[in-house]
Amino acid sequence: MRHVLIIGGTGMLRDTSEYFIKKGHFVTLLARTNYRMDAIKAEYPDKEKNIFTISQDYTEPEKALNGIKMSIDTFGPVDIAILWIHTSGEEFSNLIKTFLFSHSPKTTIFQVWGSASVNPKSFTQKNWKEKYPNRYKEIFLGYKRKNGSVRWLTNSEISEGIIKAVQENDSESIIGR
Ligand SMILES: NC(=O)c1ccc[n+]([C@@H]2O[C@H](COP(=O)([O-])OP(=O)(O)OC[C@H]3O[C@@H](n4cnc5c(N)ncnc54)[C@H](OP(=O)(O)O)[C@@H]3O)[C@@H](O)[C@H]2O)c1
Repeated sequence: MRHVLIIGGTGMLRDTSEYFIKKGHFVTLLARTNYRMDAIKAEYPDKEKNIFTISQDYTEPEKALNGIKMSIDTFGPVDIAILWIHTSGEEFSNLIKTFLFSHSPKTTIFQVWGSASVNPKSFTQKNWKEKYPNRYKEIFLGYKRKNGSVRWLTNSEISEGIIKAVQENDSESIIGR
């Protein structure tokens, strides 16, 4: 059983969160809205003890980090962290990576970058990949082309792609094109 931390796992990544819960892992979810995390928990009453929820805005980075430290006290070091963090959470994004890389030697981080809503170039890129080539992975959300037109990915396509990227552990994955 592994400890999987998912930041932003209640929206388009909900299926990702549920996948790891169903697999029987310890899952920590961080998002602002409690009822959306509770709704996920309610789906898996037999797994309730395996789910740690942190209702916290990541624009308050220290408070968000404290929540994650509590989850580590409960479930042990994070094995897999999936980060879906908007630009407003840049400070937290750097803080959580710094913390996990220095305190949990076995953590692999998968950072999800959106094609439009989040521009990776707008983040102050510390060279995570150079520093942690085996532990820092990036997942880019692309688009789908069908019958000559282009559309965004559906939530289930996004989650399927993320789960595959985690399983295959590639340093860079693109979902769609
Ligand atoms: N290339 C593509 O196809 C592509 C790329 C990007 C997005 N999209 C689409 O765009 C839609 C919207 O994406 P989205 O990111 O806005 O929504 P989302 O994934 O549905 O929600 C963002 C997640 O982050 C959490 N969150 C947001 N702000 C937070 C904060 N300040 N502190 C802590 N947690 C926070 C949210 O929970 P709380 O609100 O409870 O905090 C939620 O869990 C998605 O449904 C997706 O299909 C498509």
